[in-house]
Amino acid sequence: MTRALLFLLVPVLGWSQSLGEKVFAQSCGTGYCHGARGTPAGAPRLAGRGFDQSYITSTIMRGLPGTAMPAFGATLSRADLIAVVAYVASLNGIANPSIDLGPGPGAAGPAEPALSAEAERGRALFFDAVRGFGRCSTCHEVNGIGIPVTTLIEKIPTDAAALRALATPAIRTATVAGEAMPALIVSQGKTRALFYDLTSVPPVLRTVDPDALKVSEGSAWRHASVTGAYNDAELASILAYLREAIKP
Ligand code: HEC
Repeated sequence: MTRALLFLLVPVLGWSQSLGEKVFAQSCGTGYCHGARGTPAGAPRLAGRGFDQSYITSTIMRGLPGTAMPAFGATLSRADLIAVVAYVASLNGIANPSIDLGPGPGAAGPAEPALSAEAERGRALFFDAVRGFGRCSTCHEVNGIGIPVTTLIEKIPTDAAALRALATPAIRTATVAGEAMPALIVSQGKTRALFYDLTSVPPVLRTVDPDALKVSEGSAWRHASVTGAYNDAELASILAYLREAIKP
């Protein structure tokens, strides 16, 4: 029985720790970017951040648009990708990663519809690197690009004023060790709770002992506090982009 189980697990565990370490050292842990074994260097710390599997996979495959983090999906081999994704997962306490890299390089990406000129402008603004973390893609993903702090955008506000005045019912107040913060709860398991702390931008994904976490309804956090990098005309273009790019 144990033998059979071990056998079944082999494909999932079939990544090599040493290959993962090697690829990481060559492509990521150069000191210039991330530090050895996920310690901080020119780029942020990667170890013990509470990253989940799909976040690690998508960040390594697609990069983070507008930051120095490149996409490795088309430059590393599939075997190297699996090993390095598993290695970063292991630095975040995920011992048995099951990794789905998605379609191979050259496969069609998510279908982006043809956009009007205004929506094209909105698209560029949504992902605009010049706005730093003030850009929408710091927290939202559209058609596979951007960081999905929140769920996909479904309800698109009618105009800039409505976008600024957006109700944010999912934001609650988390208290950890006497410190209260606006929070978007990701998961609350028996052994760990995961939430985005929205105190600063970009929001920080935090992992805590569920017993140390108190969650109460409501928060003083306002969406208007994170759209200040854009004027109303720019927000109107962004909304035009969302209307055309997001299929209901
Ligand atoms: C710092 C993070 C952050 C940034 C930057 C940000 N948002 Fe949001 N946004 C949120 C959060 C969190 C919610 C969800 C609140 C809730 O559901 O309670 C949200 C909700 C939304 C919604 C409502 C989605 C729905 O289906 O209900 C829209 C639309 C939206 N944001 C658009 C934008 C646009 C456009 C920008 C750029 C101008 C932007 N956001 C920038 C964090 C951010």
